[in-house]
Amino acid sequence: MPVTKAVFPVAGLGTRFLPATKAQPKEMLPLVDKPTIQYVMEEAIKSGIDDFLFVTGRGKMALEDYFDHSAELEYHLKEKGKTDLLALVENIACMCQIHYVRQKNPLGLGHAVSCARQHVGNDPYFAVLLGDDIIVSDIPCLAQMMVVHERTGKAVVAVRRVPHEQVSSYGVIDGREVGKGIWEIRDLVEKPRPEDAPSDLAVIGRYILPSSIFPILDTIQPGHGGEIQLTDALRHLARDGQIIGYEFEGTRYDVGDPKGFLRATIELALERDDLGKDLGSYLARLVQERGLRP
Ligand code: G1P
Repeated sequence: MPVTKAVFPVAGLGTRFLPATKAQPKEMLPLVDKPTIQYVMEEAIKSGIDDFLFVTGRGKMALEDYFDHSAELEYHLKEKGKTDLLALVENIACMCQIHYVRQKNPLGLGHAVSCARQHVGNDPYFAVLLGDDIIVSDIPCLAQMMVVHERTGKAVVAVRRVPHEQVSSYGVIDGREVGKGIWEIRDLVEKPRPEDAPSDLAVIGRYILPSSIFPILDTIQPGHGGEIQLTDALRHLARDGQIIGYEFEGTRYDVGDPKGFLRATIELALERDDLGKDLGSYLARLVQERGLRP
């Protein structure tokens, strides 16, 4: 049965991006001219997802408005004959069916995912995508993972090797490579100290999970940071040999952090037909004028 439902935990406060996120959702910060959340949505759509659940929270109304019609704006653009822009904003409202559920307490990622239980219903597997991770690749990361899921019939998490000193920002897997970039996960640890990390393979924000994760989440006690961690629930799947780590192909940006956000902005703009050439020569000039060196 194909995976058709995706859960987007979007209740996070975006503290790594304050003060920009004080009065607007971090998911609405634009990379060039498109909110970060739309890149993630587009990846899911291209991977065959047609049912979206946002696990949302206070101060996140802008997300609901963004993916809805804006009658006043659409009327204005029509009046002015700005048909290209009109099509652009209308398409966003029509791009998919989104459902919303409120995470009333910020108890952690595991808790956010557990809020999706009713919506996922009887589907055996569903996807979870975290908005801080933008992945650019010819074949969308989630689509790559679906192939692995179909082949193995197991849960799949995206993993990538990170510099050893950075492992404490991630869930980290302990696994055995059973095929090129395919890891049978034996265990996972949420945000370990580098000296305690079982590997340098970090979980990146893409998951294909079984609905059996919900009763497991019910039993999970607060872990790292006092939060209900999804990673701690995944350990149960690992114990039963039911979860695969997949080293995906593509460029990944952590846009929840100003450094990663800037990198993504520049690299995505360089790829654009309307901006890339000018921006490229501007950057080259800047590097020369300021004597910047890697
Ligand atoms: C979350 C997960 C972590 C994972 C990371 C990927 O952490 O808890 O296991 O490695 O996303 O981006 P967060 O970045 O929300 O603190």
